[in-house]
Amino acid sequence: MISIKNENEIELMRKAGHLVSLTHKYLEPFIKAGITTKELDKLAYDFIIEHDGVPSCLGYEGFPATLCTSVNDEVVHGIPSNRKLKNGDIITIDMVIGYKGYQGDAAWTYQVGEISPKKKYLMEHTEKALYEGIKQVKPGNHIGDISNAVEEYAKKHNLGVIRELCGHGIGTDMHEDPDVPNYGKKGEGPKLKEGMVICIEPMLNLGSRYIYMMDDNWTIKTDDGLPSAHYEHTILVTKDGYEILTPRLD
Ligand code: MF3
Ligand code: CO
Repeated sequence: MISIKNENEIELMRKAGHLVSLTHKYLEPFIKAGITTKELDKLAYDFIIEHDGVPSCLGYEGFPATLCTSVNDEVVHGIPSNRKLKNGDIITIDMVIGYKGYQGDAAWTYQVGEISPKKKYLMEHTEKALYEGIKQVKPGNHIGDISNAVEEYAKKHNLGVIRELCGHGIGTDMHEDPDVPNYGKKGEGPKLKEGMVICIEPMLNLGSRYIYMMDDNWTIKTDDGLPSAHYEHTILVTKDGYEILTPRLD
């Protein structure tokens, strides 16, 4: 069942989303060569608690941290560790934060120091693929319109589209109906209605779309070892379009 949020709930989701945006902005200056992903995780945890938020990933199905930190060929669900970031790395920081019972979820990929033109290309076009998907959000459109827009954009730019993982509805739970795949056909899937909230999250690879899970049972990596990027926003369906609940703050 796809839940429709009322004005009250939307206001709380806006606050949850805003806290996600604030936490990303707070972390950004720390994302430099030499910091460990565990140190980033601790900064995020303290910041979220200070702002009356709940780090929703921590303990979710046993996940051991506040952030998912996925470096280079890690696609999603990287576990913060004593690994130090190096110049030339890319790192995706993905977080879900609860506020008064409602969840906000956003991921984006950051560069560490100077990165290669190929990594830049991957980051730029993965973020643009997300916005191509977001542009399809309005009442009457279908989930498949979003999926198709993301897939077409990714294909045009020769990026591998991960099919095993997808976006999702969100509300009081981090994962609600519907699934929001990054591939599909226009006009297919559930119809969007005002008051729905969904997370759109293309995960695109510089190489092939194939992935595997590491022995830690969380970290997903690309098969070919080439880098992967991931951008995600929490999106409200409005009367005539959409509102991004997790906007990037300058
Ligand atoms: N942002 C991720 C998602 O969209 C969060 C899940 S990570 C977990 O699904 F650690 F909480 F599992
Ligand atoms: Co998500």
